[in-house]
Amino acid sequence: MRQRSVKNQDDILNNSSKYVKEPNIKKGTWKSKQYKEMHIEIGIGKGTFITTLAHQNPDILYVGIELSKAVLALAIKKTRRFEEEKNIKLNNLLIFDKDATTLDEIFNKEEVDKIYLNFSDPWHKNKHAKRRLTSPEFLKVYKNILKEKGKIEFKTDNRKLFEYSLLTLNESKVLMEYISLDLHKEDIPNIMTEYEEKFSKFGPIYKLIFSFRE
Ligand SMILES: C[S@@+](CC[C@H](N)C(=O)[O-])C[C@H]1O[C@@H](n2cnc3c(N)ncnc32)[C@H](O)[C@@H]1O
Repeated sequence: MRQRSVKNQDDILNNSSKYVKEPNIKKGTWKSKQYKEMHIEIGIGKGTFITTLAHQNPDILYVGIELSKAVLALAIKKTRRFEEEKNIKLNNLLIFDKDATTLDEIFNKEEVDKIYLNFSDPWHKNKHAKRRLTSPEFLKVYKNILKEKGKIEFKTDNRKLFEYSLLTLNESKVLMEYISLDLHKEDIPNIMTEYEEKFSKFGPIYKLIFSFRE
């Protein structure tokens, strides 16, 4: 469902030091020396996942990408509340509103160390398959901007999207490093996203970790 515009959304974005209005300008220069890596999340929603990671790992730069300006405004408000509650400032978190199809205009070749895809829209109809964030078209973009040993972590509750992703990943000859058919039953650390909190009671969460390493 599309998020309706949020009151004063442009002001909320423009008044936030985390908002990058023209991300293309930062191509090739995202990560300053103080950070050991740069991790990005595509489709951050309200941003709980990336905000929590940024808090846990101050030596990593986190960049959140979200198609919807309205959703991004909500993420900024939520992140601000998180900072106020904890009395901290997350200087290692940046966000912008762009379609992920344009990522290779925003990041240099091999500029990114890790990509997170959490509960990406499934786009049920086959005619919209190209819009799925694990389509061959998107995988090509990720392969270009990711470091050679960079990893992609993908979580979903949608069985069909999970199966579709296994097929596209197999065709793209990725190196599969981890597969879970029921993430919440595994004994590994997991940060829940907003969608995960809402929908994990209805069925299992699937997770994949893969890289493009030969
Ligand atoms: C189902 S929501 C999941 C949000 C969040 N990751 C979570 O797990 O709670 C998917 C989000 O991805 C965003 N999105 C979908 N396609 C995108 C694209 N091509 N580029 C950037 N964001 C996208 C949507 O606007 C939406 O906010």
